[in-house]
Amino acid sequence: MKLAIIGTGYVGLVTGTCFAEVGHQVVCVDSDAAKVKTLQAGGIPIYEPGLEELVKKNVAAGRLQFTNSTAEGVQKSDVVFIAVPTPPQPDGSVDLSYIERVARDIAGAMTGYKIVVDKSTVPVKTGEKVTETIKRYCAAKVEFDVVSNPEFLREGFAVGDLMKPDRVVIGVGSQRPVAAMREIYTPFNAPIIVTDINSAELIKHAANSFLALKISYINAIANICEAAGANVQEVAQGIGLDERIGRRFLNAGIGFGGSCFPKDLSAFIKISEQVGYDFKLLKEVQRINSDQMERFLKKITDTLWVLKDKKIGVLGLAFKQNTDDVRSSPAIDLCQRMLKEGAALRVHDPKGMDKARALLPDVTYVEDMNAVAEGCDALVVATEWDEFKKLDLVRAKKSLTHPIMFDGRNLFDPAEMEKLGWIYKSVGR
Ligand code: UDX
Repeated sequence: MKLAIIGTGYVGLVTGTCFAEVGHQVVCVDSDAAKVKTLQAGGIPIYEPGLEELVKKNVAAGRLQFTNSTAEGVQKSDVVFIAVPTPPQPDGSVDLSYIERVARDIAGAMTGYKIVVDKSTVPVKTGEKVTETIKRYCAAKVEFDVVSNPEFLREGFAVGDLMKPDRVVIGVGSQRPVAAMREIYTPFNAPIIVTDINSAELIKHAANSFLALKISYINAIANICEAAGANVQEVAQGIGLDERIGRRFLNAGIGFGGSCFPKDLSAFIKISEQVGYDFKLLKEVQRINSDQMERFLKKITDTLWVLKDKKIGVLGLAFKQNTDDVRSSPAIDLCQRMLKEGAALRVHDPKGMDKARALLPDVTYVEDMNAVAEGCDALVVATEWDEFKKLDLVRAKKSLTHPIMFDGRNLFDPAEMEKLGWIYKSVGR
């Protein structure tokens, strides 16, 4: 199939690359000229495991191109995917101006039948607006179909999630685009669900909000575990083995962050309000999430008493492991809170340090995770990177003035830490 992807952020770039990998002919479009130049030269603007190799391979095979021109993308393809940002506005609602702009640009470039697919996360009924906009701005008055095809990829695992999706959701207003959409996704061997457009749009917000709810639920359980002297990881295992519940997304910690969950929750609460439903359950999910950070910070101040003039080592800046993304990262939030209390920080993240510099200009960046603790009063784990589990605990203990660790991601075994002589505080254990 001949495909265009408008927008080469996380979703657009990974989607376009994986489509090329299974044999489709793909043109990726971005308005950022510098980014297009980087991509054309084989550079990747984001860190995503496995992506760079796939981009290089498919560019060399002639299946993947990059351009600045939406018109070129539209003219070279049968199906045009919209993958532009839908950022939050101050009131929690979604800014749809990029979607509207792209819909107009696509309309202006269409000279024959096209399928226009929305991949960006959008409020329910956006498909109707995109359809109206294309009709209004398409001077050639050609036929087209709008499809909703939400993306469920996780940063850090995006290539795997795209190549082996749990499901593909295709929301349509008529049967005409269904065969082409099926053909695009057949190589991925995933269950394909065909729905109406509104349902497809709702599936995305409903899925992300449910996952966020699962995390807040286990964080609430963690707080009860702490008060009652139980272990949240054992509780998570005990409930997670029930197939109806599932063990995944039951890791307690300092809360969820990133560019999706916080934004999608706010958007879904707003969308619900607009259709006349007060989604109090999701408001509570948000409240538990922000409270989780406060509780962790209190654990630190309860132990260290005054943070002013204390030196604290921090492992983790990215909002989760396997990514360099620090947007809405609980780890950054925690650092900013400790800085505000007057602490000095030595920080390390395997991939997130470059992007963190703008948000945390006044901390010491340490290249070697084993050197972070040097001269510090305590060590804090803020992101769930697997490699932190390999920290040299003997060296870290010697480097600290007192062997105190606050583990916001439950990476170490409390009994083991106690045996090694640490004062070890984690979450829900
Ligand atoms: C999420 C969805 O998983 C994905 O399907 C959607 O397309 C985009 O949003 P992403 O934001 O990349 O993906 O990250 P995810 O792996 O879901 O983690 C989100 C946050 O939740 C992270 O801050 C992570 O640390 C936290 N988390 C996750 C927990 O605190 N506990 C868990 O058990 C799982």
